[in-house]
Amino acid sequence: MLKRCGRRLLLGLAGALLACLLVLTADPPPPRVPAEGGRRALHSLVAPAPGLEAAAAPETLAREVHSLSEYFSLLTRARRDAGLPPAGAPRPSYGHPRAPAEPLAPRDVFIAVKTTRKFHRARLDLLLETWISRHKEMTFIFTDGEDKLLARHTGNVVNTNCSAAHSRQALSCKMAVEYDHFVESGRRWFCHVDDDNYVNLRALLRLLASYPHTQDIYIGKPSLDRPIQATERISENRVRPVHFWFATGGAGFCISRGLALKMSPWASGGHFMSTAERIRLPDDCTVGYIVEALLGVPLIRSGLFHSHLENLQQVPASELHEQVTLSYGMFENKRNAVHVKGPFSVEADPSRFRSIHCHLYPDTPWCPHTAIF
Ligand SMILES: *[C@@H]1O[C@H](CO)[C@@H](O)[C@H](O)[C@H]1NC(C)=O
Repeated sequence: MLKRCGRRLLLGLAGALLACLLVLTADPPPPRVPAEGGRRALHSLVAPAPGLEAAAAPETLAREVHSLSEYFSLLTRARRDAGLPPAGAPRPSYGHPRAPAEPLAPRDVFIAVKTTRKFHRARLDLLLETWISRHKEMTFIFTDGEDKLLARHTGNVVNTNCSAAHSRQALSCKMAVEYDHFVESGRRWFCHVDDDNYVNLRALLRLLASYPHTQDIYIGKPSLDRPIQATERISENRVRPVHFWFATGGAGFCISRGLALKMSPWASGGHFMSTAERIRLPDDCTVGYIVEALLGVPLIRSGLFHSHLENLQQVPASELHEQVTLSYGMFENKRNAVHVKGPFSVEADPSRFRSIHCHLYPDTPWCPHTAIF
């Protein structure tokens, strides 16, 4: 019994740690599916995928669980490595400022914020008060339920009519709607973030302005230290292994218009969902699949994007101005937030977003003017 609990805990952790794994478990979910999903994910991520439907004898299960724990120690190491180096260490080359390639105005960028009705008060209001308030014209909220209070804040609210479930299909449904709205907008850059991300708009504009929007640009931070191994279904009963890098949706990522238009056969008008079905992976992995595996365009890995799946305390407060996205949440069972001294206590501002915002925009009316940073 204890062993089984341990196994289930481990497999539960699998889901919490990695969005891909999480959503794999969300196939129409009978009660025993988490373990099944975890094993499938393990097959597709660690072993060069054997048959997805292989039945597990008890001894294979033990071996899989063994390699699952190995896999997660690897993953932890990968995340640590992906974090910023300690102060004084050389900066990774992917963090270097680049020369501007073209002038870019806020209106050239389309930021899609993915949320769900039940997080409008708990998460979205904080974003509306902080970073979104600086350039409302840049941001579009993609949600799944009516909210008159939200509509009073901003006109850019899109009801996707997608299911509110956190399933692979529901997430892909939202990404599909985001993509179509971006293409329709005519803007130069598409960026996707979650409702637990702080976007540093100045840093974002600086980063994007360093690339021509007509070229093929896909930029973000991977959550793994190697390409993901997946199984692509090429016909009714034929599959083949594919591997590709993808930017984790929880840290935010951006795509140039030039590249977004090339993605159209696999992403527009509902095709995104059928593409996601082809590899049975969630929305952010599907974007990587289209860009890297189908179009052959490599992900540009940036250390300036941050999700709650990394230790956010490692982001140096002195370099907040350069970071493009930040986040907050839980990591390894502890509260995870950027460590920044600011006018608001951790109790009053647990996400630290208000303090970060006052740090970046001290002229904000609600920021205490006597604050010392
Ligand atoms: C969702 O449904 C409403 C009401 O039918 C409609 O007005 C809206 O355009 C739909 N949203 C999308 C993204 O299709």
